[in-house]
Amino acid sequence: MLVSGTGSNLQALIDAAADPGYGVEVVAVGADRDGIQGLERAERHGIPTFVCRVGDHPDRSGWDAALAAQLTAYDPDLVVSAGFMKILGEAVLTAHTVVNTHPALLPAFPGAHAVADALAYGVRVTGCTAHLVDSGVDTGPILAQTAVPVEDGDTEESLHERIKSVERPLLVDVVGRLARHGHTLTDRKVTIP
Ligand code: GRF
Repeated sequence: MLVSGTGSNLQALIDAAADPGYGVEVVAVGADRDGIQGLERAERHGIPTFVCRVGDHPDRSGWDAALAAQLTAYDPDLVVSAGFMKILGEAVLTAHTVVNTHPALLPAFPGAHAVADALAYGVRVTGCTAHLVDSGVDTGPILAQTAVPVEDGDTEESLHERIKSVERPLLVDVVGRLARHGHTLTDRKVTIP
């Protein structure tokens, strides 16, 4: 699992994984920075952690190769990116199937400011998207989405909290189904048998 911040999605997966029937084990948590709550959560649960900083590598592709190697060391069936604020490169994406969660109804509002962008645009409905990661920015095949109404008077914070309250169960559901059943991909259409 890859995180950059609070790690509430990580916590939801850790909590779900306590049930053996869920079929998921969080084998490691990686981050692109130190001192974040996401790493503390993992440590509290005895899950191995690692940090892979862009600044410690000569260039972006060096960082990507190092991150791919660190992930591969744990031999994960799936890499989950939740609130990981870096674009993954070819080395990671060639070696791993990556699921990302995004706080908007893609293809609307891709990028790092999705909640603020949706609010500024004035949409009345937004939401969250779980998707497979490809080489674009939030462009990969969609796994699942949940809609969330925008309320009058919403701030970026209040709207993001409302989105996150449905984003966590959506991610837990999708990751569990992928882990238990696998998936097939035809063009952009994902099927989980
Ligand atoms: C989520 O809304 C995710 O979609 C976005 O950042 C948030 C991460 O939340 N990119 P958390 O760190 O899992 O609490």
